[in-house]
Amino acid sequence: MTQPAHPIGFDVQTLRDAFPILGETVRGKPLVYLDNGATTQKPAAVIDAISRYYRQVNSNVHRGAHYLSDLATADFEGARQTVADFLNAAREEIIWTRGTTEAINLVAQSYGRENLGPGDEVLITGMEHHSNIVPWQLACEKTGASLKVVPVNDDGSLAMDAFHQLLSDRTRIVAVVHVSNALGTVNPVEEIITAAHQAGAVVLVDGAQAVSHFTVDVRALDADFYAFSGHKLFGPTGIGVLYGKQALLDAMVPYQCGGEMIEVVSFEKSTWNQLPYKFEAGTPNIAGAIGLGAAIAWLDGQDRAALHAHEQTVLQAAQARAAEFDGLKPVGTAANKESVMSFLLEGAHPNDVGQLLDQQGIAVRTGHHCTMPLMDGFGIPGTVRASFSIYNTLEEVDALFQGLEKVRQFV
Ligand code: ALA
Repeated sequence: MTQPAHPIGFDVQTLRDAFPILGETVRGKPLVYLDNGATTQKPAAVIDAISRYYRQVNSNVHRGAHYLSDLATADFEGARQTVADFLNAAREEIIWTRGTTEAINLVAQSYGRENLGPGDEVLITGMEHHSNIVPWQLACEKTGASLKVVPVNDDGSLAMDAFHQLLSDRTRIVAVVHVSNALGTVNPVEEIITAAHQAGAVVLVDGAQAVSHFTVDVRALDADFYAFSGHKLFGPTGIGVLYGKQALLDAMVPYQCGGEMIEVVSFEKSTWNQLPYKFEAGTPNIAGAIGLGAAIAWLDGQDRAALHAHEQTVLQAAQARAAEFDGLKPVGTAANKESVMSFLLEGAHPNDVGQLLDQQGIAVRTGHHCTMPLMDGFGIPGTVRASFSIYNTLEEVDALFQGLEKVRQFV
């Protein structure tokens, strides 16, 4: 087939050189890393920022006790400002968490349990990750509220007619994934947020799979809460972000209690620190925050439109090859998609496909992708998922399909 052209002026090899791991071999083969939905690789700029922190700065933050503590605090708060600018939010609206999962749990517990009651409804979608299902199930169980689910169409898009029907004045919270981790579907969150606000509901957007692909402006979206993880954005694991509108965060009770989040403690009563610290009990992941700040700074230095065009080129090339590959059944073919190709191979269990690809140095994810209800809806146990990022190449798409040819010979 004719290979689609790269966007003009974009040199993927120069970009790849920024990521040390991409030069590694796996099982004696060049690494073909197509598991970016699970975690992205890290540029040297991020690895160096973390190393520099531990080698030259390591100290606890906000203690103000000495020179290094002040330096660590400046770097840590500088990273928060970087995240705020990245999302177009205020610094006080950026809460450090361990990741998207903790951010959603924070909202479900602190906002959900305080604001839900019998008769109220939480509206989620059929393509949510378990981390945007289970916290709401628990919040509903505790409060007597009900969980409603927007169905997913056969092509993996959201059934928006059903969304508008399910949304009502009983809906208090809408929790929706921006980009599906299992299918790559991009959901129309602008439309969802506008309608939810008209119905009087607040909206939490799970942006874990979105922020690495396109710019997100939380103010333009008018999202009430927006969550993402550092490690899917070229940053380290164990650090993530909850954005919340200041008025909502101000009115919420703390999620965890301990040092840092208090103003005054006595045995009779304690009072809370100002935002964002009210939600940051205990010593934070300082190196993680600094690493995430470095990842965003690195990304800001790239031409994001060109990166996105390149990712789409790679995805479309993969999907075109898939359409011609005998016995390959794509799962998730929505018109608006990012960087995920989920599929089944006739006669082969997804786990076997994954293992046979792994033997050829090709890393994909197989299984239910933490979306068991979505897989149940499709009547399948799981898929093989190739998830692409900015540094993947058309040659790696070739390698994937050569790998699948070999798999087919085995099964
Ligand atoms: N949620 C991550 C994934 O989709 C781990 O792989």
